[in-house]
Amino acid sequence: MDRELPEGLFGVGVVGAPMAGGPSRPALAEAVSRAGGLGFLAAGYKTPDAMAREVDELFATGLAFGVNLFVPTSEPVDREAILAYRERLRPLAERLGVELPEPRWTDDDAHPAKLARLLERVPPVVSLTFALPSAGDVASLRRAGAFVIQTVTDPGEARAAEELGVDAVVVQHPAAGGHFGAFSPGPAFAGELPDLVSAVRAAVGIPVLAAGGIGTRQAAHAVRSAGAAAVQLGTAFLRTQEAGTNPVHRAALADPAFQRTAQTRAFSGKTARGLENTFMRDFADAPAGYPTLHYLTAPLRAAAVAAGDPEGTNLWAGTGWREARDEPAAEVVARFAE
Ligand SMILES: Cc1cc2nc3c(=O)[nH]c(=O)nc-3n(C[C@H](O)[C@H](O)[C@H](O)COP(=O)(O)O)c2cc1C
Repeated sequence: MDRELPEGLFGVGVVGAPMAGGPSRPALAEAVSRAGGLGFLAAGYKTPDAMAREVDELFATGLAFGVNLFVPTSEPVDREAILAYRERLRPLAERLGVELPEPRWTDDDAHPAKLARLLERVPPVVSLTFALPSAGDVASLRRAGAFVIQTVTDPGEARAAEELGVDAVVVQHPAAGGHFGAFSPGPAFAGELPDLVSAVRAAVGIPVLAAGGIGTRQAAHAVRSAGAAAVQLGTAFLRTQEAGTNPVHRAALADPAFQRTAQTRAFSGKTARGLENTFMRDFADAPAGYPTLHYLTAPLRAAAVAAGDPEGTNLWAGTGWREARDEPAAEVVARFAE
């Protein structure tokens, strides 16, 4: 099979990673695509209507773009552990004067509706993360004209995605900011991103895009030399002028007081990387349980952002965060262009 990406779609080989929760607003996707990269919208946490409005906005630009979906996972959750975690959060909620919501165990119902909306007006690229979709969904999206990409984190997941019929994989290293899209059990890949790219390239015949901790031109060069067809950057765009990153998150990324990133489940019940803060340290042993924990901590995080407190909210960032700058998104695309 061809390991090249379709001509034109990925421009200069720089993908603006989908970043749900604010950063990926349409202005960012448009700026990335206009600069010659491939901009992405993030459907995560949005209603089908809100997603569709953003898709319409991007279609109006006449530019290529992608839309990313969270595929619902079917992992069993420990309800007792989640209820106990809710009790542990209660004193903090009282201090902040917010109500902890009743646990919401699933938001799977939004997924079929989002898929249906995308099939009505299919974007040039659709990417999927957190789990494998059904083969039928992949086939429908491709039939409708989308180039379909699955996020994977190791060679085994890449093979499973290829068998399902996707057009390409984006291989995400644990250095990545935000959620880690692993869907198979077992330890994360132990080597560096270029080694992971080589291993995935050896495992599949479809194009491999690379993501996770890419902060410099040299790092991008190293993954391209290992065979990556394009780089997908998230953190590098978080401080750009077009991103919808909230002011607390934006300021923390530039604050030398934050010394390291770490992985945590404390905010959402799913492993994600962010600047290490008090909330992550206090709740280091949080249980698994996405999206229940995401909804449970949402009012706490909103209160922290409203109060300008970076210690109480998620500050997603990859290991290359110190290289992220306050600049137009086009500068990032130019810096990392092939
Ligand atoms: C704030 C933030 C939000 C993210 N949201 C999503 C998302 O909605 N969907 C997704 O597939 N990946 C998401 N990611 C992961 C990115 O797709 C990508 O893997 C990651 O940003 C690459 O690592 P880097 O941040 O070190 O560049 C997010 C990352 C960040 C930083």
